[in-house]
Amino acid sequence: MIDVLAVASEYYPLVKTGGLADVTGALPAALKPHGIATRTLLPGYPKVMQHLVTPAILHDFADLFGGPARLLASGDLIVLDAPHLYGRDGNPYLGPDGRDWPDNWRRFAALGLAAGELGCGGVGDYKPRIVHAHDWQAALAPVYLRFWQGPAKSVLTIHNLAFQGQFPSKIFAELRLPPSAFAIDGVEYYGAVGFLKGGLASADAITTVSPTYAAEIATPQQGMGLDGMIRARRSAVTGIVNGIDTDIWNPATDMALTERYTARRLELRQANKHAVEQRFGLDRDDGPLFCVISRLTWQKGMDILADTLDSLVAHGARLALLGSGEAWLEQAFAAAAQRHRGRIGVIAAYDESLSHLVQGGSDAILIPSRFEPCGLTQLYGLRYGCVPVVAQTGGLADTIIDANDAAISAGVASGLHFAPADAGALENAISRAVALYREPKLWTQMQRMGMKMDVSWQKSAARYAALYRRLIG
Ligand code: ADP
Ligand code: GLC
Repeated sequence: MIDVLAVASEYYPLVKTGGLADVTGALPAALKPHGIATRTLLPGYPKVMQHLVTPAILHDFADLFGGPARLLASGDLIVLDAPHLYGRDGNPYLGPDGRDWPDNWRRFAALGLAAGELGCGGVGDYKPRIVHAHDWQAALAPVYLRFWQGPAKSVLTIHNLAFQGQFPSKIFAELRLPPSAFAIDGVEYYGAVGFLKGGLASADAITTVSPTYAAEIATPQQGMGLDGMIRARRSAVTGIVNGIDTDIWNPATDMALTERYTARRLELRQANKHAVEQRFGLDRDDGPLFCVISRLTWQKGMDILADTLDSLVAHGARLALLGSGEAWLEQAFAAAAQRHRGRIGVIAAYDESLSHLVQGGSDAILIPSRFEPCGLTQLYGLRYGCVPVVAQTGGLADTIIDANDAAISAGVASGLHFAPADAGALENAISRAVALYREPKLWTQMQRMGMKMDVSWQKSAARYAALYRRLIG
């Protein structure tokens, strides 16, 4: 077995704000058959601490960025217990005022530093061969390993280049890194400190969550200022598409559904459709029911969607929207629901169990993202026979086969693509989807095609395992 330490700020089911948690929660089990033993280092948020049963104390820090801290081990988790940094309820990144916690740099520098300590072999007899950091919150781990010359190799996975962890240069003095780390080849970023930037400069390997996104972030248009860095490290960058946990997301066994079903018994979805209609206050009719399950943000193209709702309704379609996020978008959708009573239903919440029912009862899921590193809701859609209608970008482009004429005749279409991500193209896609829906044989074929696709972690876990093996030589 190869010991790998994963480092992340989210982990399903303990702490989740998005797809990152789904990935860190599911990947370890998929890696096990490949001879990879993963332990995951997490911040000791209250929800994580409550979960620990008689943890062992691995390590004491007399002072970790302003207070005492400990590394606790419980099962496959290693938890950084630091009440002065993580002992706060609610969102892992934001305070009750909806703004970043002002000490986020300390909170996530501590996470990286603890990972560095573990990767240097300085904590008991646990000596991981690989430290695998996820996103900016963990991105200092490869930096500490490099500048402290730890024996572990490092992997940094980018789940979203839009979040980079940038802080004023004055924090550098407190990071316990040598002065040489404040350089263009280290954490220095336009005179400030960049956590993700430092990780990209330091990691032995860089991955991102789809091949298309890997190519996109090497361009100035989508590189979010880091495309030069990505190009400089091109030979170290690979795109490995995410899988999903096919046990948690299984329509044949899912207890969040009103009725469970398989690809052969798609008519059973009807009971779920009725349940969705009821929950979202929608009329009952024979037309298509679209859904959205999303953070309500610019990235996800939610403003584009808001601009197409009148046209969606004019097509005789309905929409169930489950989402939470920016207030102006929540207001726009609430207004649309008022305008189109019975046609557009909005639940402004984050509700894991309802998200399963919505996938199990809607006909199609709309994903008009401006960029999408991988995206998981289209994969859940495939698995649940909820046909994905996606912007042709990043992982959405890599996982959905557009229902063009060739794909339809070959029987391989699994959804619809549209480009660019704007209201005109989305309206067009909605109108194509409505037309396809009116041809039940074609529609069912698409649903079955999606349900047949392998969206599990199997293939991608093999790729991560091969990458780890290559690194340790
Ligand atoms: P991102 O991580 O960028 O938000 P992903 O598609 O990778 O996008 O992952 C989103 C995850 O969050 C999925 O598991 C999705 O089902 C879930 N999700 C998003 N919004 C909601 C919501 N309002 N209620 C329940 N689950 C949600
Ligand atoms: C990020 C991305 C999303 C991806 C997820 C998990 O949140 O926005 O596209 O699926 O990470 O990798």
